[in-house]
Amino acid sequence: MKIFTYSEEETKILGKIIGSFIKSQGIKVLALYGEMGAGKTAFTKGIASSFGIQEKDIMSSSFVIVSNYEDKNFYHIDLYRLENIEREDIDFWEYFESGTCVIEWAEKLTELPDNSLKIQIDIVNDQTRVFTLEVKDV
Ligand SMILES: Nc1ncnc2c1ncn2[C@@H]1O[C@H](COP(=O)(O)OP(=O)(O)O)[C@@H](O)[C@H]1O
Ligand SMILES: [Mg+2]
Repeated sequence: MKIFTYSEEETKILGKIIGSFIKSQGIKVLALYGEMGAGKTAFTKGIASSFGIQEKDIMSSSFVIVSNYEDKNFYHIDLYRLENIEREDIDFWEYFESGTCVIEWAEKLTELPDNSLKIQIDIVNDQTRVFTLEVKDV
């Protein structure tokens, strides 16, 4: 399935809609793929808002691998700076089982749980992005 957005604001709105959808479907892992500047963080802000988390609380720095919003059962995972050594140390499956996880740079993971929603974000032009959705093993 392909969905186009024509501004950052629209991407956040799409995130909010997808956030409500995954809640209603019991989908716990959302894997985001796409290059730097594609809109992964903007989209995550929209998803987070449907979990009662404010946009400003979602970091885009990529320096923190796991941001934990435990009171909301929401984890924002950004693997951009993940090194092999950390991959062995961090038990991602523990997060997957603890709450809803949105993962930026999901290409760095070798395995995802069943019933994950995979979303590829591609840059079409300055303001346009195309989202390709794929539900794994439902
Ligand atoms: N349709 C769009 N959706 C999302 N971001 C967009 C869009 N059009 C332009 N942008 C810009 O692209 C950038 C996306 O940044 P960000 O969400 O941090 O990307 P990523 O996390 O994938 O590196 C922002 O500067 C945003 O304003
Ligand atoms: Mg980002």
